[in-house]
Amino acid sequence: MDLFEYQARDLFESYGVPVLPGIVADTPEEVRAAAEKLGGVTVVKAQVKVGGRGKAGGVKVAKTPDEAEEAAKAVLGLDIKGHEVKRVMVAGGARIAEEFYFSVLLDRANRSYLSLTSYEGGMEIEQLAVERPEALARIEVDPIAGIDLETAKSIAVQANFPAELVDKVAPVFVKLWEVYKGEDATLVEVNPLVLTEEGEIIALDGKVSLDENADFRHPGHEALEDAEAADPLEAKAKKLGLNYVKLDGQVGVIGNGAGLVMSTLDVVSYAGEKHDGVKPANFLDIGGGASAQVMANGLDVILGDEQVKSVFVNVFGGITACDAVANGIVGALEVLGDTATKPLVVRLDGNKVEEGRAILEKAAHPLVTLALTMDDGADKAAELAAAASK
Ligand SMILES: Nc1ncnc2c1ncn2[C@@H]1O[C@H](COP(=O)(O)OP(=O)(O)O)[C@@H](O)[C@H]1O
Ligand SMILES: [Mg+2]
Repeated sequence: MDLFEYQARDLFESYGVPVLPGIVADTPEEVRAAAEKLGGVTVVKAQVKVGGRGKAGGVKVAKTPDEAEEAAKAVLGLDIKGHEVKRVMVAGGARIAEEFYFSVLLDRANRSYLSLTSYEGGMEIEQLAVERPEALARIEVDPIAGIDLETAKSIAVQANFPAELVDKVAPVFVKLWEVYKGEDATLVEVNPLVLTEEGEIIALDGKVSLDENADFRHPGHEALEDAEAADPLEAKAKKLGLNYVKLDGQVGVIGNGAGLVMSTLDVVSYAGEKHDGVKPANFLDIGGGASAQVMANGLDVILGDEQVKSVFVNVFGGITACDAVANGIVGALEVLGDTATKPLVVRLDGNKVEEGRAILEKAAHPLVTLALTMDDGADKAAELAAAASK
């Protein structure tokens, strides 16, 4: 989960990272009031989850509350790379002497953490990495040892910070690492980290991504979610504890095990090429224990997707055998009753496959078609979706 800048700012503050005061506001009037409260020069900053806001006109300096209100009128409603600005942060204005770059991120390829740091900030990091790679220090961070003061100083030296600044930035690097570790983040990026005319180091911008797999350790993270932006079906699935991702197509997909579901998406896409180009409508992994309730929840979410025209249930019986899955499907259709209206193609294989098929044959539900193989099932489901789309 990516955070808004103001949320990152608040987190930074709670860990003792030096930041400027910031007040969020949704209207020009609120912006004026915030600017009055902060006093002095303020900066009105678009709150969208995308970089390059400054260049896009989403960061405006205001000398007075009047100017802040005017700036808000220009920034609110702005479209920045497809993100509409609905909220701004009014921040204290810094007198910037120098801009630096610092980040810690999860380096998946190396199964480690990586710190990217540069004395030459201001520029976009992707550009810096290409044009002046030698200016960017890439330093592996040991997950156990983390970034202590000594490591932080070494990072600053390797990133070409002059000696007199090393002692100033190092403690801030340590605090930013503490944010990363303490919040189970996958990214903490500060661009720019600045030295002010007054000689202070301040994090002027913050980009934080949190690892949702660690949400159970952070009850506070739920409040950081952007409920408005979430897809309603994904939100519903999340509440039901389902592993669901909405896609754009017409064939709903349910399977057990992420790998099987991924390959089912491929097979459905492939089959769809012969049937008016229909595509998978979602990813849904119901996992090991496919009880009737889990199956019903999954079907309920998928059938709630207006784009869905048919559903392909592709299950490989393992610890949960096919007979249990078949009973789950029959039970789910009973639970759903009249709300289930779209054709279901079911392919079962693996443990107790004969028993599972027998259960579905006996139930003889008018919406259910049995398929013997994954390819046949995908083809049938794609064909039904194409027919229903006409
Ligand atoms: N509070 C502030 N005071 C003074 N200048 C700021 C402030 N916040 C941002 N800036 C300036 O605006 C630039 C862009 O802002 P930033 O928050 O980094 O947004 P983005 O990275 O999305 O463009 C910064 O590099 C900095 O020069
Ligand atoms: Mg920035």
